[in-house]
Amino acid sequence: MTGDAEQRPCFITTPIYYVNDRPHIGHAYTSLAADVLARWRRLEGRPVFFLTGTDEHGQKVEKAARDAGMDPQAFCDQVSRHFRDLTATMALSVDDFIRTTEPRHKVACAALWDELVRRGEIYLGDYEGWYAVRDEAFYGPDELTERDGVKYAPSGAPVEWVREPSYFFRLSAWGERLLAFYEANPDFILPAGRRNEVIAFVKSGLGDLSVSRTSFRWGVPVPGDDAHVMYVWLDALTNYITAAGYPTDSARFATWWPAELHFVGKDILRFHAIYWPAFLMAAGLAPPGRVFAHGWWTNEGQKISKSLGNVIDPVRLVEEFGLDPVRYFLLREVPFGQDGDFSRAALVARNNGELANALGNLANRTLSLIQRNCDATLPGPAVRGASDATLGALVDGLAATVGGHLERQEFHLALDVVLAAVREANGYVTVEQPWALKKTDPVRMAAVLRILHDALRAFATVLQPFMPGSMAKLLDQLGVPEEARGLGALATPLPGGLALPPPEPLFRKIEAPAA
Ligand code: ME8
Ligand code: MG
Repeated sequence: MTGDAEQRPCFITTPIYYVNDRPHIGHAYTSLAADVLARWRRLEGRPVFFLTGTDEHGQKVEKAARDAGMDPQAFCDQVSRHFRDLTATMALSVDDFIRTTEPRHKVACAALWDELVRRGEIYLGDYEGWYAVRDEAFYGPDELTERDGVKYAPSGAPVEWVREPSYFFRLSAWGERLLAFYEANPDFILPAGRRNEVIAFVKSGLGDLSVSRTSFRWGVPVPGDDAHVMYVWLDALTNYITAAGYPTDSARFATWWPAELHFVGKDILRFHAIYWPAFLMAAGLAPPGRVFAHGWWTNEGQKISKSLGNVIDPVRLVEEFGLDPVRYFLLREVPFGQDGDFSRAALVARNNGELANALGNLANRTLSLIQRNCDATLPGPAVRGASDATLGALVDGLAATVGGHLERQEFHLALDVVLAAVREANGYVTVEQPWALKKTDPVRMAAVLRILHDALRAFATVLQPFMPGSMAKLLDQLGVPEEARGLGALATPLPGGLALPPPEPLFRKIEAPAA
């Protein structure tokens, strides 16, 4: 890696979540993925700006407030708080939490709007068509299906006929330029399958986009025309540049924009991969580096929904299983990008087999032997022999291999690689039997334990972004000082003679849930 790449600032975002309802596992998941990448970037030594927040305008939120019998702003304040609390529950290392009802955001929306008007990208007309409040999205008639006299969007949301004066964004003029942009930036949309869907959609032809509404009030007013509020998606997408300093702090904006990566669910890819780069290019701003659209979680095989009563509350999950097993499970169980099924049995199996057994026991065995057989002090760096080569090579290459997967948000493959190395290390213990060497060959025993200690240090270092709490504990037990926990520090061996504290278990085994 070049020095430049090490220093390049990284702006990483989650979607801003609607405050119509409390957070659930799906929200926690997207934010977790973004957190892991943000933490990895910091371990690389790069400046990071990690943003999350809440989407508070639009008809859907206005309706939720009305249903709750509350003033919309008071309602937003209350629900937004749950999302903010979730950042603590999940140990999300966020640098900023944006709310679209904040003054700084309204300023940014108005500035972007004015710029689009100035460039002739917005005009006044009349909108007539189908709208789904649940998705806050417009649909063409060919996209709908009808059941019992009600028309539904592909997402399953009911649509209603809307007819009102509206400002339009000249999206139809951006199709060719979007296609050229996707062509020039093959990794702008990941995973690749989703990229193809977006390209096909753009090739099928884009119409102009209605970007204002007059039939309700809960939104950012259109500058110079108070009868209109901005379409909630134009408002919401703008959050990313608001937080980066647009339009008031140009130095800050130059540092963080364009964002490295927007993490989103597949449900909102179209907004991020089509509308958003079109708005930005039309305003003379750079599009983000990448949009990654992950898959959808079901709960024990069923769609997660309030009406089915099977919404998974991340707070309760963390209370029950502990934070790090939950963080690990979510990114380990399902290839990032694909749909996945949440099951308690699967979580328990991952925790017991991979965390408590494979990694936890390796740490415990190694550190207990160092306590007992090496006077609780770290043996000096070992000269590797032929039987140490396989494990040694895995450990030396670990940060680069894991980093390679994280460059493409392959969290599951990154964890696969670490797990394979952990298993190799456990096999090494079985073969080398360091406990038996105490009497026969204490020099070799010290070397074996040191090689295992080096391996554990590498595992704990690269796993920090996934399981920050337990890996900090493991690094403490390994005697790795705070300033030597970055990726760059792995190349420098710890000095021998370090006093090590007695090990404590990192993970507990969870009893299998009743079937
Ligand atoms: O769409 N599985 O907000 P939202 C996986 N405000 N991820 C899930 C999920 C599930 N079952 N359910 C939700 C919005 N998500 C807009 C975004 S951004 C400028 C504006 C996650 O509250 C996933 O990330 O409906 C999805 O894209 C997001 O929550 C939608 O959150
Ligand atoms: Mg939604």
